[in-house]
Amino acid sequence: MTVAHDRHRPRFHLLPLSGWMNDPNGVVHWRGRYHVFYQHNPLAPRWGTPSWGHAVSDDLVRWEHAPIALAPEMLPVDVSGCWSGCLVDDDGTPTILYSTARDGEQVTCLATGSGDLMRWTKHADNPVMRPPNAVRGRTMDAFRDPWVWREDDAWYALVGSSIGGLGQVLLHRSADLRSWTYLHPFVPSFDQPVCDDTGQVWECPGFFPLGSEHVLMVSRFQWAAGTHASAFVGAYRDQRFEPRSRERLDWGHRAFFAPLTTTDERGRRLMWGWLPEQRDPVRARATWAGVASLPRELTLEGDVLRQRFVPELSALRADRVHLDHASIRGERSLGIDTPTLEVRCTIVRGTASSAGIRIVHAAGQYTEVLVAWCTGRLLVDSRWSKGVHGSEYAFDTAPLERDGAPLERVTLHLYLDHSVLEVIANDRQAVTTRCYPIGPPDVDVHLVAVDGDAHFEQVEVWRLDPDAVRGGGEAEAIVGWGA
Ligand code: FRU
Repeated sequence: MTVAHDRHRPRFHLLPLSGWMNDPNGVVHWRGRYHVFYQHNPLAPRWGTPSWGHAVSDDLVRWEHAPIALAPEMLPVDVSGCWSGCLVDDDGTPTILYSTARDGEQVTCLATGSGDLMRWTKHADNPVMRPPNAVRGRTMDAFRDPWVWREDDAWYALVGSSIGGLGQVLLHRSADLRSWTYLHPFVPSFDQPVCDDTGQVWECPGFFPLGSEHVLMVSRFQWAAGTHASAFVGAYRDQRFEPRSRERLDWGHRAFFAPLTTTDERGRRLMWGWLPEQRDPVRARATWAGVASLPRELTLEGDVLRQRFVPELSALRADRVHLDHASIRGERSLGIDTPTLEVRCTIVRGTASSAGIRIVHAAGQYTEVLVAWCTGRLLVDSRWSKGVHGSEYAFDTAPLERDGAPLERVTLHLYLDHSVLEVIANDRQAVTTRCYPIGPPDVDVHLVAVDGDAHFEQVEVWRLDPDAVRGGGEAEAIVGWGA
Protein backbone atom coordinates (compact mmCIF):
# COMPACT_ATOMS: atom_id res chain seq x y z
CA MET A 1 0.00 0.00 0.00
CA THR A 2 1.42 3.43 -0.82
CA VAL A 3 1.74 5.94 1.95
CA ALA A 4 -0.59 8.32 0.11
CA HIS A 5 -3.40 5.79 0.19
CA ASP A 6 -2.87 4.61 3.73
CA ARG A 7 -5.75 6.19 5.57
CA HIS A 8 -4.38 5.16 8.96
CA ARG A 9 -1.13 7.03 8.53
CA PRO A 10 -0.98 10.13 10.76
CA ARG A 11 -0.63 13.45 8.96
CA PHE A 12 0.65 15.88 11.58
CA HIS A 13 2.49 13.56 13.93
CA LEU A 14 6.17 12.97 13.42
CA LEU A 15 7.00 9.60 11.88
CA PRO A 16 9.49 8.35 9.33
CA LEU A 17 8.57 8.31 5.64
CA SER A 18 8.73 4.55 5.69
CA GLY A 19 9.99 1.77 7.88
CA TRP A 20 9.95 1.46 11.62
CA MET A 21 10.44 3.87 14.50
CA ASN A 22 10.60 3.28 18.22
CA ASP A 23 12.11 5.43 21.00
CA PRO A 24 12.75 9.15 20.56
CA ASN A 25 16.48 9.75 21.13
CA GLY A 26 18.67 12.77 21.82
CA VAL A 27 15.83 15.29 21.67
CA VAL A 28 17.24 18.80 21.88
CA HIS A 29 16.56 22.45 21.13
CA TRP A 30 19.83 23.35 19.41
CA ARG A 31 20.60 26.82 18.04
CA GLY A 32 16.92 27.65 17.75
CA ARG A 33 15.79 24.43 16.10
CA TYR A 34 14.07 21.40 17.61
CA HIS A 35 15.71 18.08 16.78
CA VAL A 36 14.15 14.69 17.41
CA PHE A 37 16.28 11.64 16.70
CA TYR A 38 14.66 8.24 17.00
CA GLN A 39 15.22 4.50 16.75
CA HIS A 40 14.70 3.69 13.11
CA ASN A 41 14.72 0.74 10.76
CA PRO A 42 14.43 2.31 7.31
CA LEU A 43 14.13 -1.07 5.61
CA ALA A 44 10.94 -2.55 7.01
CA PRO A 45 8.00 -1.77 9.30
CA ARG A 46 9.46 -3.90 12.06
CA TRP A 47 12.25 -3.53 14.60
CA GLY A 48 15.71 -4.38 13.27
CA THR A 49 19.30 -3.24 13.84
CA PRO A 50 18.45 0.38 14.65
CA SER A 51 19.83 3.53 13.11
CA TRP A 52 19.16 7.00 14.49
CA GLY A 53 16.56 8.70 12.29
CA HIS A 54 16.47 12.49 12.52
CA ALA A 55 13.83 15.19 12.12
CA VAL A 56 14.08 18.95 12.58
CA SER A 57 11.49 21.61 13.29
CA ASP A 58 11.46 25.36 13.85
CA ASP A 59 8.01 25.40 15.43
CA LEU A 60 7.19 21.94 16.86
CA VAL A 61 4.49 21.55 14.20
CA ARG A 62 6.22 21.26 10.86
CA TRP A 63 8.98 18.63 10.63
CA GLU A 64 11.61 18.10 7.98
CA HIS A 65 13.51 14.96 7.16
CA ALA A 66 17.20 14.96 7.89
CA PRO A 67 19.71 12.30 6.88
CA ILE A 68 20.10 9.31 9.15
CA ALA A 69 22.39 10.49 11.94
CA LEU A 70 23.92 7.22 13.12
CA ALA A 71 23.89 3.89 11.33
CA PRO A 72 25.28 0.58 12.55
CA GLU A 73 28.64 -0.42 11.12
CA MET A 74 30.02 -3.88 10.69
CA LEU A 75 33.18 -3.17 12.60
CA PRO A 76 34.12 -2.86 15.29
CA VAL A 77 31.53 -1.91 17.85
CA ASP A 78 27.93 -1.27 16.93
CA VAL A 79 27.08 -4.06 14.50
CA SER A 80 23.95 -4.81 16.55
CA GLY A 81 22.65 -1.30 16.01
CA CYS A 82 22.73 2.19 17.44
CA TRP A 83 20.30 1.86 20.31
CA SER A 84 18.77 4.58 22.42
CA GLY A 85 20.65 7.44 24.03
CA CYS A 86 20.90 11.17 24.53
CA LEU A 87 22.60 14.29 23.18
CA VAL A 88 24.56 16.80 25.26
CA ASP A 89 26.34 20.06 24.55
CA ASP A 90 30.02 19.50 25.38
CA ASP A 91 31.18 23.08 25.41
CA GLY A 92 29.81 23.70 21.92
CA THR A 93 30.38 20.20 20.54
CA PRO A 94 27.15 18.23 20.15
CA THR A 95 27.82 14.80 21.59
CA ILE A 96 25.65 11.69 21.44
CA LEU A 97 25.95 8.82 23.89
CA TYR A 98 24.11 5.73 22.72
CA SER A 99 23.85 2.04 23.53
CA THR A 100 24.76 -1.01 21.57
CA ALA A 101 25.35 -4.67 22.31
CA ARG A 102 28.45 -6.68 21.57
CA ASP A 103 30.01 -9.88 22.86
CA GLY A 104 26.97 -10.61 25.02
CA GLU A 105 26.93 -7.30 26.88
CA GLN A 106 25.47 -3.85 26.43
CA VAL A 107 27.86 -0.92 26.22
CA THR A 108 27.77 2.84 25.66
CA CYS A 109 29.32 4.51 22.62
CA LEU A 110 29.98 8.15 21.78
CA ALA A 111 29.71 10.24 18.60
CA THR A 112 30.32 13.94 17.97
CA GLY A 113 28.40 16.08 15.51
CA SER A 114 28.75 19.07 13.21
CA GLY A 115 27.32 22.39 14.39
CA ASP A 116 24.02 21.79 12.55
CA LEU A 117 23.74 18.22 13.93
CA MET A 118 23.69 16.79 10.41
CA ARG A 119 27.01 14.90 10.32
CA TRP A 120 28.19 12.56 13.04
CA THR A 121 31.55 10.93 13.71
CA LYS A 122 31.85 7.95 15.99
CA HIS A 123 34.56 8.07 18.61
CA ALA A 124 37.60 5.98 17.65
CA ASP A 125 37.79 4.32 21.05
CA ASN A 126 34.24 3.11 21.48
CA PRO A 127 32.78 1.85 23.72
CA VAL A 128 33.27 4.48 26.38
CA MET A 129 31.33 2.67 29.10
CA ARG A 130 30.87 -1.00 29.98
CA PRO A 131 28.58 -2.55 32.62
CA PRO A 132 29.91 -2.48 36.18
CA ASN A 133 30.03 -5.67 38.21
CA ALA A 134 26.68 -4.68 39.73
CA VAL A 135 24.94 -5.94 36.60
CA ARG A 136 27.52 -8.08 34.82
CA GLY A 137 26.50 -11.71 34.61
CA ARG A 138 23.01 -11.24 36.06
CA THR A 139 20.11 -12.80 34.25
CA MET A 140 18.66 -9.66 32.66
CA ASP A 141 22.04 -8.00 32.33
CA ALA A 142 20.54 -4.83 30.92
CA PHE A 143 22.79 -1.81 30.66
CA ARG A 144 21.44 0.65 28.18
CA ASP A 145 19.98 4.01 27.22
CA PRO A 146 22.40 6.50 28.81
CA TRP A 147 21.02 9.82 30.07
CA VAL A 148 23.75 12.40 30.68
CA TRP A 149 23.83 15.79 32.40
CA ARG A 150 26.39 18.33 33.57
CA GLU A 151 26.57 19.16 37.27
CA ASP A 152 29.20 21.39 38.87
CA ASP A 153 32.36 20.45 37.02
CA ALA A 154 31.54 16.85 36.09
CA TRP A 155 29.34 14.83 33.77
CA TYR A 156 26.91 12.31 35.23
CA ALA A 157 25.23 9.44 33.41
CA LEU A 158 22.33 7.21 34.35
CA VAL A 159 22.15 3.90 32.57
CA GLY A 160 18.99 1.77 32.59
CA SER A 161 19.47 -1.57 34.24
CA SER A 162 18.21 -4.05 36.78
CA ILE A 163 19.47 -5.36 40.08
CA GLY A 164 18.19 -8.61 41.52
CA GLY A 165 15.26 -8.67 39.11
CA LEU A 166 14.11 -5.11 39.86
CA GLY A 167 14.50 -2.05 37.68
CA GLN A 168 17.27 0.34 38.65
CA VAL A 169 19.37 3.08 37.09
CA LEU A 170 23.13 3.13 37.62
CA LEU A 171 24.99 6.38 38.17
CA HIS A 172 28.37 7.12 36.59
CA ARG A 173 30.70 10.14 36.58
CA SER A 174 33.16 11.43 34.02
CA ALA A 175 35.36 14.48 33.45
CA ASP A 176 35.31 14.22 29.66
CA LEU A 177 32.38 11.98 28.55
CA ARG A 178 34.93 9.41 27.35
CA SER A 179 36.21 7.83 30.54
CA TRP A 180 33.55 6.87 33.08
CA THR A 181 33.57 5.66 36.69
CA TYR A 182 30.63 3.72 38.09
CA LEU A 183 29.36 5.27 41.34
CA HIS A 184 26.26 3.47 42.69
CA PRO A 185 22.59 2.62 42.13
CA PHE A 186 20.83 5.96 41.79
CA VAL A 187 17.61 5.03 43.63
CA PRO A 188 18.42 3.48 47.03
CA SER A 189 14.74 2.70 47.72
CA PHE A 190 14.05 0.93 44.43
CA ASP A 191 12.71 -2.10 46.35
CA GLN A 192 10.23 0.06 48.35
CA PRO A 193 6.50 0.42 47.61
CA VAL A 194 6.83 3.76 45.79
CA CYS A 195 8.76 1.88 43.10
CA ASP A 196 6.32 -1.04 42.97
CA ASP A 197 5.08 -2.24 39.67
CA THR A 198 7.88 -0.64 37.75
CA GLY A 199 9.26 -3.81 36.25
CA GLN A 200 12.38 -5.90 35.98
CA VAL A 201 14.39 -3.46 33.89
CA TRP A 202 14.24 0.30 33.73
CA GLU A 203 14.82 1.48 30.20
CA CYS A 204 15.30 4.95 28.77
CA PRO A 205 15.84 6.93 31.98
CA GLY A 206 15.63 10.70 32.15
CA PHE A 207 16.44 12.91 35.13
CA PHE A 208 15.96 16.65 35.56
CA PRO A 209 14.91 19.41 37.92
CA LEU A 210 11.30 20.51 37.57
CA GLY A 211 9.88 23.34 39.69
CA SER A 212 11.53 22.95 43.06
CA GLU A 213 11.78 19.14 42.80
CA HIS A 214 13.52 16.53 40.71
CA VAL A 215 11.94 14.04 38.36
CA LEU A 216 13.23 10.63 37.33
CA MET A 217 11.52 9.09 34.31
CA VAL A 218 11.85 5.41 33.46
CA SER A 219 10.17 2.99 31.09
CA ARG A 220 9.56 -0.44 32.49
CA PHE A 221 10.77 -3.32 30.41
CA GLN A 222 8.86 -3.28 27.20
CA TRP A 223 7.84 -6.87 26.74
CA ALA A 224 6.83 -7.44 30.36
CA ALA A 225 3.09 -7.38 31.08
CA GLY A 226 1.75 -3.94 31.90
CA THR A 227 4.67 -2.15 30.33
CA HIS A 228 4.54 1.64 30.65
CA ALA A 229 6.52 4.78 31.43
CA SER A 230 6.58 6.40 34.87
CA ALA A 231 7.83 9.61 36.40
CA PHE A 232 8.97 9.74 40.00
CA VAL A 233 8.94 13.05 41.83
CA GLY A 234 11.38 13.27 44.69
CA ALA A 235 14.50 14.67 46.28
CA TYR A 236 18.02 14.62 44.88
CA ARG A 237 20.81 14.65 47.47
CA ASP A 238 24.39 13.39 47.50
CA GLN A 239 24.02 12.02 43.98
CA ARG A 240 21.10 9.84 45.04
CA PHE A 241 17.41 10.16 44.28
CA GLU A 242 14.65 9.44 46.81
CA PRO A 243 11.26 9.17 45.08
CA ARG A 244 8.23 10.38 47.01
CA SER A 245 5.53 9.78 44.45
CA ARG A 246 5.05 8.17 41.08
CA GLU A 247 2.88 9.17 38.13
CA ARG A 248 2.17 6.99 35.17
CA LEU A 249 2.97 9.17 32.15
CA ASP A 250 0.28 7.71 29.91
CA TRP A 251 -2.41 5.13 30.66
CA GLY A 252 -2.71 3.73 27.15
CA HIS A 253 -1.78 0.07 27.16
CA ARG A 254 1.36 -0.46 25.10
CA ALA A 255 0.59 2.83 23.41
CA PHE A 256 3.16 5.27 24.82
CA PHE A 257 6.70 4.24 25.69
CA ALA A 258 10.28 5.42 26.15
CA PRO A 259 9.50 9.14 26.49
CA LEU A 260 12.42 11.52 26.41
CA THR A 261 12.56 15.19 27.36
CA THR A 262 14.59 18.32 26.81
CA THR A 263 14.31 21.95 27.80
CA ASP A 264 13.91 24.51 25.09
CA GLU A 265 15.28 28.03 24.95
CA ARG A 266 12.10 29.28 26.64
CA GLY A 267 12.83 27.00 29.59
CA ARG A 268 9.97 24.58 28.89
CA ARG A 269 10.43 20.88 29.66
CA LEU A 270 9.17 19.13 26.51
CA MET A 271 8.47 15.43 26.17
CA TRP A 272 8.04 13.06 23.22
CA GLY A 273 7.08 9.41 23.57
CA TRP A 274 6.97 6.52 21.14
CA LEU A 275 3.48 5.42 20.06
CA PRO A 276 3.78 1.80 18.86
CA GLU A 277 1.25 0.31 16.47
CA GLN A 278 -1.60 -1.68 17.93
CA ARG A 279 -1.98 -3.72 14.78
CA ASP A 280 0.42 -5.88 12.85
CA PRO A 281 1.82 -3.56 10.15
CA VAL A 282 2.83 -6.46 7.95
CA ARG A 283 -0.63 -8.05 7.93
CA ALA A 284 -2.07 -4.58 7.35
CA ARG A 285 0.33 -4.17 4.39
CA ALA A 286 1.57 -0.89 5.83
CA THR A 287 5.00 0.45 4.87
CA TRP A 288 5.54 2.16 8.22
CA ALA A 289 5.17 1.48 11.92
CA GLY A 290 5.57 3.71 14.96
CA VAL A 291 4.88 7.39 15.55
CA ALA A 292 6.23 10.05 17.92
CA SER A 293 3.67 11.54 20.28
CA LEU A 294 2.80 15.20 19.97
CA PRO A 295 5.21 17.28 22.05
CA ARG A 296 3.86 17.72 25.57
CA GLU A 297 5.04 20.23 28.13
CA LEU A 298 5.66 18.95 31.65
CA THR A 299 5.22 21.12 34.74
CA LEU A 300 5.01 20.42 38.43
CA GLU A 301 2.39 21.80 40.81
CA GLY A 302 3.34 20.68 44.30
CA ASP A 303 4.06 17.01 43.73
CA VAL A 304 1.55 16.79 40.87
CA LEU A 305 3.06 16.35 37.44
CA ARG A 306 1.06 18.12 34.74
CA GLN A 307 1.23 17.67 31.00
CA ARG A 308 -0.19 19.75 28.18
CA PHE A 309 0.06 19.64 24.42
CA VAL A 310 2.28 22.54 23.35
CA PRO A 311 0.28 25.63 22.27
CA GLU A 312 2.17 25.80 18.94
CA LEU A 313 -0.12 23.01 17.72
CA SER A 314 -2.93 25.54 17.40
CA ALA A 315 -1.30 26.49 14.06
CA LEU A 316 -2.99 23.36 12.70
CA ARG A 317 -6.49 24.68 13.40
CA ALA A 318 -8.79 25.31 10.47
CA ASP A 319 -12.48 25.88 11.14
CA ARG A 320 -14.06 25.51 14.54
CA VAL A 321 -17.35 24.18 15.85
CA HIS A 322 -18.23 25.77 19.14
CA LEU A 323 -20.91 25.10 21.75
CA ASP A 324 -21.05 27.31 24.79
CA HIS A 325 -23.24 25.37 27.15
CA ALA A 326 -25.09 22.19 26.33
CA SER A 327 -26.99 19.82 28.49
CA ILE A 328 -26.69 16.40 26.90
CA ARG A 329 -28.82 13.35 27.46
CA GLY A 330 -28.06 10.49 25.11
CA GLU A 331 -26.06 11.55 22.09
CA ARG A 332 -25.67 14.66 19.90
CA SER A 333 -23.76 14.87 16.62
CA LEU A 334 -21.59 17.93 15.99
CA GLY A 335 -21.56 17.39 12.23
CA ILE A 336 -17.77 17.22 11.89
CA ASP A 337 -16.27 15.31 9.01
CA THR A 338 -12.53 14.91 9.26
CA PRO A 339 -10.05 12.36 10.59
CA THR A 340 -7.69 15.12 11.81
CA LEU A 341 -9.26 17.05 14.65
CA GLU A 342 -8.78 18.62 18.06
CA VAL A 343 -11.37 18.75 20.85
CA ARG A 344 -11.36 20.76 24.08
CA CYS A 345 -14.27 20.59 26.45
CA THR A 346 -15.20 20.72 30.09
CA ILE A 347 -17.81 18.29 31.33
CA VAL A 348 -19.74 18.87 34.54
CA ARG A 349 -21.28 15.98 36.37
CA GLY A 350 -25.04 15.59 36.16
CA THR A 351 -27.11 12.46 36.66
CA ALA A 352 -25.30 10.48 33.92
CA SER A 353 -23.08 7.61 34.99
CA SER A 354 -20.59 8.67 32.32
CA ALA A 355 -20.27 11.29 29.61
CA GLY A 356 -17.79 12.38 27.00
CA ILE A 357 -16.80 12.30 23.36
CA ARG A 358 -17.66 9.60 20.88
CA ILE A 359 -15.58 9.65 17.72
CA VAL A 360 -17.79 8.00 15.15
CA HIS A 361 -16.06 6.30 12.24
CA ALA A 362 -17.67 4.74 9.16
CA ALA A 363 -20.16 1.90 9.43
CA GLY A 364 -21.01 2.27 13.09
CA GLN A 365 -17.45 1.91 14.38
CA TYR A 366 -16.48 4.29 17.16
CA THR A 367 -13.86 5.25 19.70
CA GLU A 368 -15.03 6.65 23.02
CA VAL A 369 -13.47 8.99 25.56
CA LEU A 370 -15.69 8.96 28.64
CA VAL A 371 -15.54 10.45 32.09
CA ALA A 372 -16.99 7.55 34.11
CA TRP A 373 -18.16 9.07 37.39
CA CYS A 374 -19.47 5.65 38.36
CA THR A 375 -15.87 4.40 38.63
CA GLY A 376 -13.98 7.68 39.03
CA ARG A 377 -11.99 6.93 35.91
CA LEU A 378 -11.35 8.24 32.44
CA LEU A 379 -12.15 5.56 29.93
CA VAL A 380 -10.78 5.38 26.41
CA ASP A 381 -12.32 2.57 24.44
CA SER A 382 -11.09 1.77 20.95
CA ARG A 383 -12.33 -1.81 20.84
CA TRP A 384 -14.91 -0.85 18.23
CA SER A 385 -12.47 0.81 15.86
CA LYS A 386 -9.72 -1.74 15.60
CA GLY A 387 -10.78 -3.09 12.20
CA VAL A 388 -9.66 -6.43 10.91
CA HIS A 389 -6.19 -6.32 12.41
CA GLY A 390 -7.56 -5.80 15.85
CA SER A 391 -5.77 -6.04 19.12
CA GLU A 392 -6.96 -6.82 22.60
CA TYR A 393 -5.18 -3.74 23.93
CA ALA A 394 -7.92 -1.28 23.34
CA PHE A 395 -9.68 -0.48 26.58
CA ASP A 396 -7.77 1.91 28.79
CA THR A 397 -8.69 3.64 32.01
CA ALA A 398 -6.96 6.30 34.07
CA PRO A 399 -7.85 7.36 37.61
CA LEU A 400 -9.50 10.77 37.78
CA GLU A 401 -10.18 11.08 41.47
CA ARG A 402 -8.13 13.38 43.60
CA ASP A 403 -7.93 12.81 47.35
CA GLY A 404 -10.45 10.02 46.96
CA ALA A 405 -13.22 12.33 45.65
CA PRO A 406 -14.39 11.84 42.06
CA LEU A 407 -14.01 15.01 40.07
CA GLU A 408 -17.19 16.96 39.41
CA ARG A 409 -15.74 18.78 36.44
CA VAL A 410 -13.28 17.33 33.98
CA THR A 411 -11.53 19.06 31.13
CA LEU A 412 -10.60 16.94 28.14
CA HIS A 413 -8.14 17.88 25.43
CA LEU A 414 -7.65 15.46 22.58
CA TYR A 415 -6.08 15.15 19.16
CA LEU A 416 -7.15 12.64 16.54
CA ASP A 417 -4.76 12.11 13.65
CA HIS A 418 -6.12 9.19 11.63
CA SER A 419 -5.01 6.14 13.66
CA VAL A 420 -3.57 8.12 16.60
CA LEU A 421 -5.72 9.40 19.44
CA GLU A 422 -3.99 11.29 22.28
CA VAL A 423 -6.11 12.44 25.22
CA ILE A 424 -5.13 14.52 28.26
CA ALA A 425 -7.65 14.99 31.08
CA ASN A 426 -7.31 17.88 33.54
CA ASP A 427 -3.77 18.56 32.27
CA ARG A 428 -2.78 15.44 34.13
CA GLN A 429 -3.89 11.96 33.06
CA ALA A 430 -2.90 11.11 29.51
CA VAL A 431 -4.28 8.19 27.54
CA THR A 432 -3.06 7.36 24.06
CA THR A 433 -4.67 4.75 21.86
CA ARG A 434 -4.83 3.73 18.24
CA CYS A 435 -7.87 3.25 16.00
CA TYR A 436 -7.82 1.47 12.66
CA PRO A 437 -11.42 1.44 11.52
CA ILE A 438 -12.26 -0.13 8.19
CA GLY A 439 -14.10 1.69 5.41
CA PRO A 440 -13.83 5.32 4.34
CA PRO A 441 -12.06 7.79 6.64
CA ASP A 442 -15.21 9.66 7.69
CA VAL A 443 -15.26 10.85 11.26
CA ASP A 444 -17.93 12.66 13.24
CA VAL A 445 -17.82 13.80 16.83
CA HIS A 446 -20.75 13.12 19.14
CA LEU A 447 -21.27 14.36 22.66
CA VAL A 448 -22.66 11.55 24.81
CA ALA A 449 -24.17 11.19 28.25
CA VAL A 450 -25.04 7.68 29.41
CA ASP A 451 -28.03 6.96 31.66
CA GLY A 452 -28.82 10.57 32.55
CA ASP A 453 -27.59 14.01 31.69
CA ALA A 454 -24.30 15.88 31.83
CA HIS A 455 -23.44 19.50 31.21
CA PHE A 456 -20.87 20.34 28.55
CA GLU A 457 -19.22 23.74 28.92
CA GLN A 458 -17.18 25.33 26.18
CA VAL A 459 -17.04 22.53 23.67
CA GLU A 460 -14.57 23.47 20.95
CA VAL A 461 -13.82 21.18 18.04
CA TRP A 462 -11.37 22.17 15.35
CA ARG A 463 -10.91 20.56 11.99
CA LEU A 464 -7.17 20.45 11.62
CA ASP A 465 -5.51 21.15 8.34
CA PRO A 466 -2.00 19.67 8.23
CA ASP A 467 -1.54 21.04 4.70
CA ALA A 468 -2.16 24.62 5.79
CA VAL A 469 1.00 24.79 7.87
CA ARG A 470 3.23 23.54 5.09
CA GLY A 471 3.64 27.19 4.13
CA GLY A 472 4.36 28.92 0.85
CA GLY A 473 7.78 28.28 -0.62
CA GLU A 474 8.51 25.49 1.80
CA ALA A 475 7.47 22.56 -0.27
CA GLU A 476 10.21 20.46 1.31
CA ALA A 477 8.75 20.78 4.75
CA ILE A 478 6.39 17.96 5.49
CA VAL A 479 3.99 18.09 8.36
CA GLY A 480 4.25 14.89 10.29
CA TRP A 481 5.90 13.43 7.24
CA GLY A 482 2.56 12.46 5.81
CA ALA A 483 2.39 11.94 2.11
C1 FRU B 1 13.21 0.60 24.42
C2 FRU B 1 14.45 -0.10 23.88
C3 FRU B 1 15.71 0.47 24.50
C4 FRU B 1 16.76 0.14 23.48
C5 FRU B 1 16.01 0.38 22.20
C6 FRU B 1 16.43 -0.48 21.05
O1 FRU B 1 12.14 0.56 23.53
O2 FRU B 1 14.36 -1.47 24.09
O3 FRU B 1 15.98 -0.04 25.79
O4 FRU B 1 17.90 0.93 23.58
O5 FRU B 1 14.64 0.14 22.48
O6 FRU B 1 15.74 -0.12 19.88
